[in-house]
Amino acid sequence: MAMSAKIHTLGSSAADRFNLHRTVPRYNQEDREPDPRYPQDHLKAAQAQDDNHIVGGAVVRSARMKAVFRLVEKIARTNATVLIGGESGAGKEVVARALHNLSLRCERPWVDINCGALPDHLVESELFGYEKGAFSGAEAQKAGMFELAHGGTLFLDEIGELDGKMQVKLLRVLDGVPYYRLGGTRKVAVDARIVAATNKNLEQAVEAGAFRGDLFHRLNQVSIQVPPLRERVEDIAPLAYRFLHEVDPRLDLGDDALNALEDYGWPGNVRELRNVVTRAAVLAESCEICAADLNLKLSTPGHAERPELKRQLGGLEEQVIREALEKSGGRQDLAAGMLGISRRTLLRRLKEYKTRANIGVCASPVLSI
Ligand SMILES: Nc1ncnc2c1ncn2[C@@H]1O[C@H](COP(=O)(O)OP(=O)(O)OP(=O)(O)O)[C@@H](O)[C@H]1O
Ligand SMILES: [Mg+2]
Repeated sequence: MAMSAKIHTLGSSAADRFNLHRTVPRYNQEDREPDPRYPQDHLKAAQAQDDNHIVGGAVVRSARMKAVFRLVEKIARTNATVLIGGESGAGKEVVARALHNLSLRCERPWVDINCGALPDHLVESELFGYEKGAFSGAEAQKAGMFELAHGGTLFLDEIGELDGKMQVKLLRVLDGVPYYRLGGTRKVAVDARIVAATNKNLEQAVEAGAFRGDLFHRLNQVSIQVPPLRERVEDIAPLAYRFLHEVDPRLDLGDDALNALEDYGWPGNVRELRNVVTRAAVLAESCEICAADLNLKLSTPGHAERPELKRQLGGLEEQVIREALEKSGGRQDLAAGMLGISRRTLLRRLKEYKTRANIGVCASPVLSI
């Protein structure tokens, strides 16, 4: 089972070289109220990280993720139980770690357990620990994850996989009832902040009788939904640079590579982006990665055989972009923000429309901005 408290940071060279921080307002500066319970250097560290789009160890650039992290920062200061939802690879664990890193418990343990990766009987002994001789093979006393997380945060990943018996036991502990280690006679009381994550729809699981409603409500004191990467295209470039520079800080991404990354649908979310960029970085033959190095499959099967559909979709897209530009009074950055795309993608699209208009494919004039 993986247990680590590694905090990722983006090398400042990446932000400097690619001017990533100068175009974006500082994250949440104006909203942050001084909290007397926070050591000042802790706050300063969080603010210093903002310049590289890093909050609590996570890359945060899009408006959607900034909203998520405003909530994270707010609830980090409380002991509320948090349920994090979102597609696989979207960054649920990253958000949970940020919650810990930004909390008053940041110097205390971070402990994580994947409830879906262990057989049911092991989940119980891992969570609650056991005494020597509790079962065959229990040769020495072992503290459970709850105890290990005392004073800190316990992250229960894939909580939707927990079996019925464990759901009851967990609910009791969450309600503050002391518990016994397996085979134990002495009660153990712990203070651990619980953060759980799932890529299942737990409300539906409750309706279907597969998950206890009382536990769901107890876990869901605050819920956070991590949006899929395709809905926050602005995060793609800073994430890609971070993953690239983890392999080699001298590497760069060509414009065609950045365009290809932003055009892709990312069904595997940030995890897939990390894998694609890391593979390209490892195999790169020059310092600048190009689109072909990424080996992305850009069109869905059958797309090429449906030019009429493609043309109609292109027309709709142009209309939506024009409307956004009109609403924003021609401000490209605002229009891009409204559409959830990066300014570079917006500019590229405008250039394409202009070319099409010039060769007579599209008769409508392109807004001059
Ligand atoms: N905002 C982010 N900043 C930096 N790295 C990120 C971010 N979001 C995700 N990642 C990276 O993407 C990968 C997947 O993230 P994570 O494990 O948090 O996803 P998940 O939603 O928990 O996935 P799963 O549902 O499969 O458990 C990890 O390598 C993580 O470091
Ligand atoms: Mg996870």
